[in-house]
Parts: sequence; C-alpha cells; structure tokens
Amino acid sequence: MTGTTTSLDRGYSQLPVPYGWFAVAMSNEIGNGEVKTMRYFDTEFVVWRGGDGQLRAVDPFCPHMGAHLGINSDVTGNDLRCGYHHWRFNGEGGVTKIPYSDTITASMKRNCLKTWPIEEVEGVAYVWYHPNKTAPKWDVARMPECPGGDWVLAGSYEWTVNINCSEIPENGQDYAHFGAVHGVPGPPATDFKVDGWVRRNTVVAEMKTPKGLMEGKIDATATGPGQSITEFVDVTHVVMNQQVTPITSEQTHLRWQMYHIPGLSDGKVRVTQARIRDLVKQVNQDIPIWNNKKCETRPLLVKGDGPILAYRQQYAKYYDFEDDGPKVVAA
Ligand code: FES
Ligand SMILES: [Fe+2]
Repeated sequence: MTGTTTSLDRGYSQLPVPYGWFAVAMSNEIGNGEVKTMRYFDTEFVVWRGGDGQLRAVDPFCPHMGAHLGINSDVTGNDLRCGYHHWRFNGEGGVTKIPYSDTITASMKRNCLKTWPIEEVEGVAYVWYHPNKTAPKWDVARMPECPGGDWVLAGSYEWTVNINCSEIPENGQDYAHFGAVHGVPGPPATDFKVDGWVRRNTVVAEMKTPKGLMEGKIDATATGPGQSITEFVDVTHVVMNQQVTPITSEQTHLRWQMYHIPGLSDGKVRVTQARIRDLVKQVNQDIPIWNNKKCETRPLLVKGDGPILAYRQQYAKYYDFEDDGPKVVAA
C-alpha cells in the first residue's frame, strides 16, 4: 500500500542529492554479460558484469560519438562494447579496441570515459555517488558477525517511496511516532551516538513480540546516508540490512534484506517470520506518511521527539561537497 500522493510542492526538489555509497541493484539482478542502465541520483550510469563476474560502472554516453552505452551495447570478455561503432571499453573507462582502427592513443587507453566505484557486499551492488566524482571516503558497511555460522536470508523487500532519502533513516530517530503510527510502547530508552560517518542507536526496551512483551535489544548502525544495519535480539535474532538510494531528491528506492541466525527450530522460525512480518508492516505504516509529508526544515520539536536535530546535524555533511570528511580530533 503506498497511499495517495499529493501534488502540492512539498519542498524536496530543492534538496541536493547527498554523497555516499548507495545500493543500485541486488547482485542477482545483473547476470554475467548483462548491461543495465541505472537511473539514480537524478542521473544515469551504465553497469555491466564482465565474464570474470565483476561489476563495472561508467557514465552513460560513449566518448566516441555520444551513443548511450546502455542501448544496444553488449559485453565482450570483461569489456563493454558500444552498440554504435563497436568500440570497447574496460572498467577503468579506457578504450581497448576500435574494430576499424589500430590507432588508440595512450590517453584513450587510460581513461576517456568516467567510471563509478562499484562494489558488491552481501548480495547488494553499491556505487559511490559524489557530484564532484570524489573518491570514496569510507568503506561499504557489512553486517555484524553471525553467532553460530552464517546469517540465513529470510526475505528481500523493496519499495519506491515519494520522499527525500534523508527522511527514511530519520524516521528511526522520530521516537514519538512509534506509538502513534506503529502502536509500539515508547518512546524507548535509547542511546544515539555519532562517530564520524556512522550513527548508532542502541535500545534496550520492552518489545512487543508475538509471545507478548519481553526485554529486547535493538542495535542500529547507519553508515553514511545509504546504509543502516539493525540487529534485533529478543525472542529471536534478526538482522535487517537496509539501503536507501535517491532516485531523485523527491523519490527514494528502499531495500531490505532480512536475515536470522542459523539452526532455528521450526517454532523459532515461525516466531522469526512473525517478527519480520511485523517490521514490514511497520514500514507499510510509514509509507503513506512519507509519500505525502512536506520537507520540514524547521520542525516544531518538543521534549520526547527524539534526536532528530542531532541526526540532521550529522547528515548535513553528506551535502557538504567540498568537505574532506570528519575532522580527526587528537586525544
Ligand atoms: S558512439 Fe560509441 S562506438 Fe561510436
Ligand atoms: Fe516508522
């Protein structure tokens, strides 16, 4: 359910797209030898998977005569072959072959097509977006270590939401809505900490579980604007791997992969599935609000609203395109 969408100017179109690592596909959505045009960050880029299984990403237009590299192109070996005159490019953006000419200058061989850093982590393909093409400032975040083996993927979910990407992680700092929207007891005693590019929330509280109220722990680690990994430990043990990716400053692609610990009994699997269903229900409760709310740069906050301003203060660095990153403070 996405709810109706208002046509009023909601103020998001004026916001810039933040920089960071963002999910652009699930790994299994791009097969070997496949080329995909990606539409995110209010722009386009082209991703392909070479014969060696590696993903590569480049700007969309061929530097030869401007063809779109996502149209009629294909993969030859590890290279992308433009559909217009069959020039070939490697993952560094260099020309590797021109079928009707032996002359490839040194600079054309090096890089004549701009590339995007791309990485696959835990089944998700991430690109580094920065409007100035600055190199990545941090690493893609990974899930916590799984006790007793490997995390078991219980389900993958995705939604397209008509809202700026900053608002989805902000929802986790909006404590007053937990009771009103999700009907969960709150606001819980939580600890919000900023550490460089990372934001952490630790909550130890009474949780509503399928077996009633019990003490549980929620540990959320958000790295940059695009990734949040949340570990729920209560009657069960679940990890939610969340990615938010700006399609434009007004529209966001939200992805979740839900994992649980291995070796659960059938009964525990049912409890875990109920827990996951409840989390999915919660996001479906948020979405109609997200699809219609406006950008409120000066919220009327009162005690009990949660660390919304602290969140925004940290988030502002992802709009500071000239900044070198958080300053290291000497001990
Ligand atoms: S436009 Fe791409 S090879 Fe000519
Ligand atoms: Fe919510």
